[in-house]
Amino acid sequence: MTSARILGTGSFLPRRVVTNAELALTVDTSDEWIVSRTGIRERRVAAPDETTCDLAERAARQALDAAGCLASDIDLLIVATTTPDRVFPSTACLLQERLGIHGSAAFDVQAVCTGFVYALAIAEKFIRTGGTKRALVVGAETMSRIVDWNDRSTSVLFGDGAGAVVVGASDEPGILSSHLHADGAYKDLLTVSTGVSDRGAGPGHITMRGNEVFRMAVTTLDALVGETLAANDLKQTDIRWLVPHQANIRIIAATAKRLGMTMDQVIVTVDRHGNTSAASIPLAFDTGVRDGRIRRGDVVLMEAFGGGLTWGSVLLRY
Ligand code: UT7
Repeated sequence: MTSARILGTGSFLPRRVVTNAELALTVDTSDEWIVSRTGIRERRVAAPDETTCDLAERAARQALDAAGCLASDIDLLIVATTTPDRVFPSTACLLQERLGIHGSAAFDVQAVCTGFVYALAIAEKFIRTGGTKRALVVGAETMSRIVDWNDRSTSVLFGDGAGAVVVGASDEPGILSSHLHADGAYKDLLTVSTGVSDRGAGPGHITMRGNEVFRMAVTTLDALVGETLAANDLKQTDIRWLVPHQANIRIIAATAKRLGMTMDQVIVTVDRHGNTSAASIPLAFDTGVRDGRIRRGDVVLMEAFGGGLTWGSVLLRY
């Protein structure tokens, strides 16, 4: 049966580094607090004229190169983002135009920090059912645009960036399973509560009940990991790499512990990237591939949790 295999990866980070020390100049925080509670040491912030699509384009071009693919080979383009350039057209359509692709399906997926997992799972289903041969899947964010820089409880957490993969139809095993979930009953725990249609609902920046989100993330990811292993009839030791959403090193460590993994089996970028929402998993995956840790044939578990609430996993053989 046709499988969907990752053919190439790419990523891009804006040039500007914002350290914890720099943030401590403007809000009541400290490097010690941020590192001990989150594991974050620095994050990247896009230039004022740099958009989500700009970051996505750089990551996408790198992924196409790595896959040995031309843009014209792409017949499905999905961008996972919470911070699109425009209300419409979708960032996927903007990216399609930049890459000179004409006529392929192109759309955005909005599942906040779980967006890339959702997008990859959708691409896999398009490929497995036979309609799509090569999909470009991007996670790209400019979270800095929706952060209140005066709110220490959120401003220290987020960063900007993009990651991308090219996924192709293959006879060799690739994506083994995906598991997607959401529960809108928790919509107010982590939100930007104003929007296009509902303009009066609240502030136009991120608000989060961090402690509650933290507790839910740990228990939900624990169950999700169990669900993923059971669906594939796998043991913990069958997984070589954990590529988690990068929100908080303490959440990542709890999931690794659940899997019986040591931290050297986990790709960690939260220290340098902060939480880049839908971009965090493809950024981390590309980091692990490019530095040679993740090799062809390795079994990789991607998992994410975020606003919605949404959560999901993809298990794959690279
Ligand atoms: O990506 C989507 C999913 N998101 C997440 O998974 C994030 C989940 N949540 C978290 O990662 C953590 O809850 C945070 C890192 C956001 C917060 O860590 P915490 O250990 O849960 O801290 P807390 O919210 O319980 O706050 C503890 C104290 C409070 O002070 P009091 O009330 O004890 O006096 C906060 O006001 O820390 C204070 N605080 C800060 N202090 C210094 C909150 N933010 C800061 C800060 N610097 N930046």
